[in-house]
Amino acid sequence: MVVPIELIDTKVERLSRLAPEDVVPATEEILPPTETATPLPPLVDGFGRRMNYMRISVTDRCNFRCTYCMPAEGVPWKPRGEILTYEELLRLVHVGTRLGIDQIRITGGEPTVRRNVVDFIRELAKIPGVRDLSMTTNGLLLPHLAQPLYEAGLRRINVSIDTLQPEKFREVTRTGNLEHVMNGVRAAIAVGMNPVKINAVIMRGVNDEDVPALAQLTVDLGVDMRYIEYMPIGVSWEECEKHLVTGREMRERIRAAGMELEPVPPDYPEEPARYWRIKGARGRIGFITTLSEPFCATCNRIRLTADGKLRPCLNCEDEVDLKSVLRGGGSDDDLIAVFREAARRKWAGHQLRQHATAANRVMSQIGG
Ligand code: 5AD
Ligand code: SF4
Repeated sequence: MVVPIELIDTKVERLSRLAPEDVVPATEEILPPTETATPLPPLVDGFGRRMNYMRISVTDRCNFRCTYCMPAEGVPWKPRGEILTYEELLRLVHVGTRLGIDQIRITGGEPTVRRNVVDFIRELAKIPGVRDLSMTTNGLLLPHLAQPLYEAGLRRINVSIDTLQPEKFREVTRTGNLEHVMNGVRAAIAVGMNPVKINAVIMRGVNDEDVPALAQLTVDLGVDMRYIEYMPIGVSWEECEKHLVTGREMRERIRAAGMELEPVPPDYPEEPARYWRIKGARGRIGFITTLSEPFCATCNRIRLTADGKLRPCLNCEDEVDLKSVLRGGGSDDDLIAVFREAARRKWAGHQLRQHATAANRVMSQIGG
């Protein structure tokens, strides 16, 4: 499953070493939207779930090639003109806040490779309705960006680290350098991001042995450690099942390594992770059990792809196009109608078993 280093396509290597300015759109000026927000009836789906959390993918590009996220050769990047501009994104967030969206997570691809992402965060943080702003990143550029991101208003960050073994880290990410990413994590902690969460996708035969060592980060660094069950996005269900390790098994492995776990109540009811804590540790240990114990019944999320589609669920291809409305001169009411349509299309559950292979996008194009 793990791709040996010598088999890695050199083109992939070259692409992934591009500096941020090579892989991001030209400088964009950021102008705050002008309309003041008037609250509207909240965004509710056909099953009565309220959507107040929007994940925004700001780019489909990435400087890693994680095996569980995209193929070795990468995926063709969307042309620049197809990616929503920061002005467009800010307008959509303004509209979203009128519908009760108050939690925003910035994702990618890798969000930090998009030029001026710090300025974008600064503008987002100013929007009164945005109560909670966070980012999911691979951490590579955090040594330089943690401080400016914090100053721009970002207080919470999730970094993906699937193993603490440098060689294996390189194999799983196909290019990544663990030391750089760990420096990024330390930088995020040092500037005061809180919580800093580490995400690991656990795959049998790849990094299942690394579960206890990762748990130790909650003691050593005080970060939250979150284990994510491998999901069949862009791969078949059969392929996924071969590597699936359930949250329950991960907890057993942690306990078997001599770490005692005590349950911790969730911060808020819609939180997808269920948390435990090693006695005395500052950080918590969370499990995102999408397959073994789905949390769809309390899902409060909607996703905006970098190319301007509202995606009702992680695995739902029934997207609604916001970009054409935005660029066709649509009013805020027109945009609101698109949000409501996306909510209407939300599924009761993720259907990952039934629709595992049908993916029109790999994970990097969805934003996790
Ligand atoms: N299964 C589970 N999680 C995944 N991610 C990417 N691909 C998968 C997958 N197949 C998660 C990574 C990353 C986030 C952006 O998406 O943990 O942190
Ligand atoms: Fe890039 Fe994140 Fe996907 Fe890894 S998981 S390839 S870092 S988008």
